[in-house]
Amino acid sequence: MPDASIAELRDRAERLLPPATRDFLAAGAGRETTVTGNEAAWDRWWLRPRMMVGVGTVDTTGTLLDGPVSTPVLLGPAGRQRALHPDGETAAAAAAAAAGTVYCLATSATTDLHDLTGPGRRWLQLYVSEDRAHTHRVVGNAAAAGYERIVLTLDRPIEATRPRSRRHGTLGPLPPGAAVTTHLGDGSTRAHVASRWDRTLTWTDLARLTELGLPLTVKGVLRADDALRAVEYGADSVIVSNHGGRQLDGAVPTAVALAEVAAAIDVPVLVDGGIRTGGAVFRALALGAAAVLIGRPYLWGLAAAGAAGVTTVLDTLTAELRETMTLAGCPTLADITADLVTPAS
Ligand SMILES: Cc1cc2nc3c(=O)[nH]c(=O)nc-3n(C[C@H](O)[C@H](O)[C@H](O)COP(=O)(O)O)c2cc1C
Repeated sequence: MPDASIAELRDRAERLLPPATRDFLAAGAGRETTVTGNEAAWDRWWLRPRMMVGVGTVDTTGTLLDGPVSTPVLLGPAGRQRALHPDGETAAAAAAAAAGTVYCLATSATTDLHDLTGPGRRWLQLYVSEDRAHTHRVVGNAAAAGYERIVLTLDRPIEATRPRSRRHGTLGPLPPGAAVTTHLGDGSTRAHVASRWDRTLTWTDLARLTELGLPLTVKGVLRADDALRAVEYGADSVIVSNHGGRQLDGAVPTAVALAEVAAAIDVPVLVDGGIRTGGAVFRALALGAAAVLIGRPYLWGLAAAGAAGVTTVLDTLTAELRETMTLAGCPTLADITADLVTPAS
């Protein structure tokens, strides 16, 4: 779908999906103030373009953590992608690989980590089970299967109440034949597992997870003191995130929290939440992010048109970023510095 915009893909996804799935995708916690705030907050940073720097070539490639990326837009973790399209995680990962970016597979995926066998850089998002032996096996499987790192999500000790999806029941949508995997490579599903995600985690548990052999990124940090603690206990990078407004309603928009976190630590900081345009990607990099992750935009693309829809979303955001870089006087990602943004008063 080369000519479809992200908004068109969203409209098409919302027309195609059954109501329970549409609401699973869109839902935020509580009154959805953080969902709305995330998108709006990027626009509260005005741009201060630089003139006459020579923008004959503009390059969106870079090095991020363990390797190269063609674009600083990554696909963030999202569970149950086969509820959105029969090819689910496989299609999204293929589109990420084709665009030269990272795909982060969710713990609550409908595709086992062993079954993503195509090319491309992969990370595994982790929820820690009350059954630690299970979690340790999953991390070992990810390492053996070539996943580069673990992304530990911090902001979901429980699932928040999401009124929009609650009205369809609490289990979430799954088409016939699809199930949430255990990532054990044996076809077992979460329905076979008695344990829940562990809500007793503290920073000392983080230190233990870093001993399992994969580098660790934490996702869900909104404060400088938590970012410092994450690094102290072994994370080598941090994602500023409020789970796309799906967890604590009223949590600070990530465009507001980012600068505080980036100033506090000297490891790579990534951000997600409400990023819908290349201009928002540009603002995130100017505020100190090494890269951004997207959630709903690529899920709209997936639901609307499978891998081709995800490709359209990635291509659109990267083309918009390149245009913003050109007009703001930034030939490379390294040129996108803090002086290029100023808060709207
Ligand atoms: C349908 C859906 C499912 C998600 N599932 C997960 C998940 O399993 N683990 C996780 O860490 N984040 C999950 N997220 C949050 C995303 O990783 C990301 O933080 C968020 O979507 C970014 O905001 P955006 O949707 O505005 O781009 C999910 C988001 C959506 C929309």
